[in-house]
Amino acid sequence: MKIYIADDYSSLSRRAANIISAQVITKPDSVLGLATGSSPIGTYKQLIDWYNKGDLDFAEVTSINLDEYVGLGKEDEQSYAYFMAKNLFDHINIKKDNINIPNGLADNIERECERYNYVIRGNHGIDLQLLGIGENGHVGFNEPGEAFEKETHEVMLTESTIQANSRLFKSIDEVPRKAISMGIKAIMQAKHILLIANGPKKADAIRETVYGPVTPQVPASILQLHNHVTIICDKEAGKYIKETDLGREI
Ligand code: F6R
Repeated sequence: MKIYIADDYSSLSRRAANIISAQVITKPDSVLGLATGSSPIGTYKQLIDWYNKGDLDFAEVTSINLDEYVGLGKEDEQSYAYFMAKNLFDHINIKKDNINIPNGLADNIERECERYNYVIRGNHGIDLQLLGIGENGHVGFNEPGEAFEKETHEVMLTESTIQANSRLFKSIDEVPRKAISMGIKAIMQAKHILLIANGPKKADAIRETVYGPVTPQVPASILQLHNHVTIICDKEAGKYIKETDLGREI
């Protein structure tokens, strides 16, 4: 993995957007794995800005999002489908048919997970996977646990994730307890993984991801085994990264 520390959130966002732009410019029909949450909002803003300037074209891009809450539909303001529409898709020329997000309202969640696995396989995997990271080291909603979940699956969210995500809901009781998440296998099969992290609450998770043992207790630690990972942190999230490790393959 290669790690970079950006001066602040806006510089982190610009760098991440640069990598995504380069991907789309060099391969216009790229399959992008996308994340929701606070971390990528600045990255998406930057991409929209470059799109508006005519520098980017998403007409042939396919997106495959990481996850969705069970029980929330795309009209629900707390759903990840809604988030993606408002923070990216409504502002660029990606084709609606090329957007993929798990359906949180599916009657049969197991079948929906299967369908999503077919979507990932049918698109021949992901060219560039954007990831945020949970304070507990989760990626997507692959929560710390006994084993690395391989494929799309239903997840019971941990207390730590429910707590962290409650900031976006009126009350903690409204946070869904379950989600559908892409599995570690699909994430690990992405050709390039771009993980972004900002703020002091992510510092421990980044330290464990980079220097800790590879363990399901810190799902992101598996990224140590991937041969093309770029991590961009702000100074706070990257405070435990040794200066000598910056910008080189470790
Ligand atoms: C979101 C996702 C999660 C978030 C993580 C960090 O699609 O998969 O893993 O990336 O919870 O969230 P923020 O960026 O809100 O701190």
